[in-house]
Amino acid sequence: MIKKVGIIGGGTMGSGIAQVAATAGCSVKLYDTKIEALEKAKADLKKIMARLVEKGKIDSEEKERIQNNIKYVNSLKELKDSDVTIEAIVENLDVKKNVFSTLEKFVSDDCIIASNTSSLSIASIASSLQKPERCIGIHFFNPAPLMKLVEVIPAIQTSEETLKTSVKTIKDWGKIAAVAKDTPGFIVNRVARPFYGEALRIYEEGMASFSEIDSAMKEVGGFRMGPFELMDFIGNDVNYTVTETVFEAFYFDPRYKPSFTQKRFAEAGYLGRKSGKGYYNYSENGQMSVRAQSRTNSEQKFSTETIFERILVMLINEAADALFWNIASAEDIDNAMTKGVNYPKGLLTWADEKGIDWCVKKMDELYEEYHEDRYRCSPLLRKMNRENKTFF
Ligand code: NAI
Repeated sequence: MIKKVGIIGGGTMGSGIAQVAATAGCSVKLYDTKIEALEKAKADLKKIMARLVEKGKIDSEEKERIQNNIKYVNSLKELKDSDVTIEAIVENLDVKKNVFSTLEKFVSDDCIIASNTSSLSIASIASSLQKPERCIGIHFFNPAPLMKLVEVIPAIQTSEETLKTSVKTIKDWGKIAAVAKDTPGFIVNRVARPFYGEALRIYEEGMASFSEIDSAMKEVGGFRMGPFELMDFIGNDVNYTVTETVFEAFYFDPRYKPSFTQKRFAEAGYLGRKSGKGYYNYSENGQMSVRAQSRTNSEQKFSTETIFERILVMLINEAADALFWNIASAEDIDNAMTKGVNYPKGLLTWADEKGIDWCVKKMDELYEEYHEDRYRCSPLLRKMNRENKTFF
């Protein structure tokens, strides 16, 4: 049973993970090199807790207990008695490796050393340790206290024991664990790529405007946010970098090709909500309005169905392909998208509902139209169609 938790990095993710572990009753030490970061984490937690008391979600005793469960420390050595440590510092391999090899000198032999990295390989991080079998990816989503999903990523060096304990701990903390292979983007950041990429492509072809594409995904698909709203929310700089990183990591597979539109938006500083301007304009009170650039240049009017179905089938194809390559189980792939990024339905469940034959036909139509490798149908969908099978 994990009781003592060390968190390295007290920024957005580290402080959120500390809250999750403290709420579950663990004794947490939150370490950051910057005192100001620790002070901010402490003050933010106090505010969050006060709001939870106000809303009646917890009582003041519980609030005290959670707050007292977290100690803010300014020396890595303080984490020496941890059962597990989770690192959430800057996304830089050399910096992470350095911290890991120093940390290993202080902690006990059976302490799990995990990283919350979104894009680095766990195998490369683990290689910095004398005992790499204790290393694993434990990837939370932002905001960590609210998002149910946690991807657990064993590296090739990771022991069964480390994996088992990590999955159990995540469940004990009230989260849903999805085990993923140590491959670029793990599950969510791989499977979700077409949500952005195909939407941008549809726009670039002049088929529809930003707001028309967003409406199609929300009104026909039931998504909470459209792709352009979501990119504005995430930040076009951040979202573009993830796409570019995944594209490079997949040895330039055209399926993950970044878009010039988004690159230009990032270059122009049209980052989205945080800069007041993105695919939409944002006023100071957060009101969103449509921008003039969002025009289509097509004579032909495409229906919201057509737009939605094209993005959906590309997402389904990506999810099926992740299963084909054994990135995760079908259940975990569906859970990842509904619990990690709030999709209205798991993509493989959606594939079953639409029919595997429909998916194959739609992908083949796109391939026929463009003759681009981007639109190749996953071999798994084709095989399932031949054998008349469903995912669930
Ligand atoms: P952040 O910038 O909010 O926080 C990073 C914190 O780490 C800062 O307080 C900084 O002072 C501290 N830090 C930097 N170097 C350090 C070191 N050597 N030792 C101790 N503390 C150090 O970053 P954020 O967004 O919390 O991301 C952290 C990690 O989590 C990254 O690996 C990121 O890829 C990953 N991640 C981020 C998500 C997000 O939506 N922001 C989602 C999932 C994962």
